[in-house]
Amino acid sequence: TSQIGVTPPPMGWASWNSFFSSIDHNVIKQQADALVSSGMAAAGYKYVNLDDGWWQGQRDANGNIVVDEKLWPGGMKAIADYIHSKGLKAGIYTDAGKQGCGYYFPTTRPAAPNTGMEGHYQQDLETFQRWGFDYVKLDFCGGRVEGLNQETTYKAISAANEAASAVTGRKLVLSYCEWGTGLPWNWATGYGDLWRTSDDVLFFKETPGLTKMYRNFDQALQPAAQHTGYYNDPDMLMVGLNGMTAARNRLHMSLWSIAGAPLLAGNNVATMSTETRDILTNPEVLAINQDPRGLQGVKVAEDTRNLQVYGKVLSGTGKRAVMLFNRTGSAANITVRWADLGLTSASATVRNAWTRTGAGSFATSYTTSVPANDAVLLTVSGTEASGTTVEDTATATT
Ligand code: GLA
Repeated sequence: TSQIGVTPPPMGWASWNSFFSSIDHNVIKQQADALVSSGMAAAGYKYVNLDDGWWQGQRDANGNIVVDEKLWPGGMKAIADYIHSKGLKAGIYTDAGKQGCGYYFPTTRPAAPNTGMEGHYQQDLETFQRWGFDYVKLDFCGGRVEGLNQETTYKAISAANEAASAVTGRKLVLSYCEWGTGLPWNWATGYGDLWRTSDDVLFFKETPGLTKMYRNFDQALQPAAQHTGYYNDPDMLMVGLNGMTAARNRLHMSLWSIAGAPLLAGNNVATMSTETRDILTNPEVLAINQDPRGLQGVKVAEDTRNLQVYGKVLSGTGKRAVMLFNRTGSAANITVRWADLGLTSASATVRNAWTRTGAGSFATSYTTSVPANDAVLLTVSGTEASGTTVEDTATATT
C-alpha cells in the first residue's frame, strides 16, 4: 500500500528537464543550495529528485547496486545526507524492469545495464531507504520492453516497499511513471502516492511547446482517483526552460495548479531569472495547488470555441479556484457562472491569483478577457448552493 500519503501535492525540483543524465554530486548540491538561497524551498519546493543517470555502475556479487564514486563521492548516502542538511528531502530514480529509459534512448552517458529493479525490488528499496532517500520515481522503460503488466508490477513494488520499510523503519514516497499506459488512475490509489498519467511533457532536448502541455493537462484530469495523498501527475515543470516566455510559464503554472498536480521544477534554479523565480513561487497560485483538500479542478463549462472554465473546490465554505482557459488563437471574453461552480447567484468576491488583487464583487457571474492560448486564474468566494456541486464531481472516497 501507499507509504506516506503525501499531503499536499509534492513540490520540489527534479534533474531531468535541464540536466538529463549528466548529474553528479556537484550538480545536485548546486541545485539544492539554490533551492534554499532563491526562496524556492521556503515557498514549498522541498524535494530534490535525482532522475535517470545516477546509476552508472553495476551490481556486486550480492546484487547490490555499485555507484561510480567519481560522480558520487561517499556514495548515494552522502548526497542524501547533503540534501537533508539543507532541510530538504531526497528523491531517486529506478525502473520496474531491468533498465531505465536512458538505456533504450541513450542520452549523455552510456547507461549501465541491469541496474533497474527487476529481480531486486525489496533489495533496492531497502537500499534506497538505507541511503536515506525519501522518494523514488519508478520508470517503466525496461518494464515496457519486457512486457511487464503495469498494475501487477507496481502493486508488487508497493508490497516490496512495505516489506523494506518493515526492515529499515523508513518510508519512501512512490512515484509511478508508466505514462498512463496501464490507466493507473483506476488502480494506483492506495498503492502509489503519485502516478504519471501521460507520456513526457518534454522529450529529450525538445523545445517546450503547448501541444504536450495541453495533452498532459487534459490527461491528468482523473478527479475520481485524486484526493489528499494521491495525485495524478502530468509530469515535471517546463517553467523557466529556454523557449518558455513569462506568459507561457504562468499558463503552465495555472494548468498544473488547477489540476492539483505535483510541482517539480525542472529548470536550473541556480541560474534562473527573478521573473522565473517569482512565477514559481507566487503564493496565491501555490495556495491553489497546495489546497489541503487535494482535489483536482474539473471542467465546468466550455463553449463551442474552445473557451473553457475549470473549477476546483478549495477548503473552507464557498471557496473555489477558477481557471478561465482560452485554447484558441485569439483573445476572447470568458464568463464563469456561479451556478456552474455550485454556488448560489448571490454576490461573490473574485480575486486574481497572479496579480494578487481583488477584482470586486459580482452577482451571478464574472467575465474577463483572456489572451490567446492563455489562462486567467482566480479565486471566488461565494455561497454554497444546495444540491449537486462541483465537489460531488471532484471528491473521491477517502
Ligand atoms: C522517461 C520518463 C522521464 C525521464 C526519462 C529518463 O522518459 O518518463 O520523466 O525520467 O525517462 O530517462
